[in-house]
Amino acid sequence: MKDPRKFWNKLAPRYAKSPVRDEKTYQKKLEITQSYFKPDWSVFEFGCGTGSTAIVHSPYVKQILATDISDEMIAIAEQKTQAQGITNISFQQGTLDSLPLNPESFDAVLGLNILHLLPNVDETINRVNQLLKPGGIFVSSNALMREVSLHWRLLIPVMQFIGLAPHIDSFSKDELIGMLTKNGFTIDHEWQPAKASLFIVARKKVN
Ligand SMILES: C[S@@+](CC[C@H](N)C(=O)[O-])C[C@H]1O[C@@H](n2cnc3c(N)ncnc32)[C@H](O)[C@@H]1O
Repeated sequence: MKDPRKFWNKLAPRYAKSPVRDEKTYQKKLEITQSYFKPDWSVFEFGCGTGSTAIVHSPYVKQILATDISDEMIAIAEQKTQAQGITNISFQQGTLDSLPLNPESFDAVLGLNILHLLPNVDETINRVNQLLKPGGIFVSSNALMREVSLHWRLLIPVMQFIGLAPHIDSFSKDELIGMLTKNGFTIDHEWQPAKASLFIVARKKVN
């Protein structure tokens, strides 16, 4: 994928209109995440899309910095937040590499439906670890691409070839847990709502 920013910008208006695929699972993920939150927490989200999840979480924490590579996604997220009068979310266009972020400055980092879209998952997890305070949590919702149906596994490379699908990385559950553990996390909560889907709350080790 030559320019992921362009790809996601183009998709943004359609993404904003697409409904949550499995509402029950989504709600459970929100509940699990909120069971960790504290009112004084600073939260960072990367790959926030059009901000829907940040908006739902905003009453439960002090502040959220929600970021995305796509300025079109961010523009939609900002409109929604302003329309709802929410004042504790700030949105910024950027990636984990490009954003000027202070180490150990967040109580929680959210990476939802994003890790498999990034070129280097191991490096990303390491960077997330640096951004978290000791004992902070990394909440990730993951697509296990090796487990998707044969239909999709055949179709995705064709779609990528004609520019209709982004870069996609494929890792197993054990590989993802291995990368988290190697980069200084312990697994606090693990839930596999479907064969190709893995929700994890990982905690940064205190020392
Ligand atoms: C599948 S969507 C998920 C959006 C949202 N987290 C959700 O769960 O609905 C992936 C998002 O990641 C963003 N994205 C892709 N590559 C990125 C990168 N390198 N850094 C930050 N965001 C990225 C896309 O623009 C898009 O909004």
